[in-house]
Amino acid sequence: MSKIEEYILSHMDPEPEVLRKIDRDAHVNLLQGIMTSGHLQGRFLKMLTQMIRPKRVLEIGTFVGYSALCFAEGLEEDAELYTVEINDELEDRIRHNFSLSEYGNKITLYIGDALDILPQFADESFDLAFIDAGKESYWDYFEATLHKTVKGGYILVDNTLWYGKVMEEVKSNDRATLSIMEFNSKLADDDRVEKVILPLRDGLTLIRKK
Ligand SMILES: C[S@@+](CC[C@H](N)C(=O)[O-])C[C@H]1O[C@@H](n2cnc3c(N)ncnc32)[C@H](O)[C@@H]1O
Repeated sequence: MSKIEEYILSHMDPEPEVLRKIDRDAHVNLLQGIMTSGHLQGRFLKMLTQMIRPKRVLEIGTFVGYSALCFAEGLEEDAELYTVEINDELEDRIRHNFSLSEYGNKITLYIGDALDILPQFADESFDLAFIDAGKESYWDYFEATLHKTVKGGYILVDNTLWYGKVMEEVKSNDRATLSIMEFNSKLADDDRVEKVILPLRDGLTLIRKK
């Protein structure tokens, strides 16, 4: 961790104990434990949820449920979160993690490919969405999510700076980087939405549907 990150984390809200445990478990027991949103982004997602006050939130890419629990923590009493995860081997761990938190009961988990599951939801039914799944399909997730987002609703997209690779020369077989570059370019020209890229962690794009 860099000195600036250390400084930031020691001068903001601490990471809740239950999330610290979930993060640690993912890092110790799963190959790609670093995929959790983590302390800084997690607290940001919670605060953004409190600011937007959504009734329904959609998340694509649950992993171990870290970010889902951050959104859930920021939700008001009658609000809820739907989260979609393609890897069924994670299901037991996700459900267990939700059971550890007092906010887990605000979350409904769907196991499957978000591109198959999203069409089952009613149109324009989410006030806030978080796209954080397979990088090769970013534009498809975005189109599918935009249809399900209310006018004036928000979509957050994670990893849009992709370790800075989006600004470098890219190999023709690096599909993830090419896909994120294409996503960023198309989004920049998309008049249906307003957008801001925050250089938070690995790049977080905030999008508002007009
Ligand atoms: C970066 S991780 C999510 C991290 C989590 N949102 C967090 O911040 O704690 C990405 C997850 O997306 C899942 N995923 C990939 N493609 C997907 C798809 N088409 N539909 C649903 N989930 C998908 C992966 O299995 C992985 O668990």
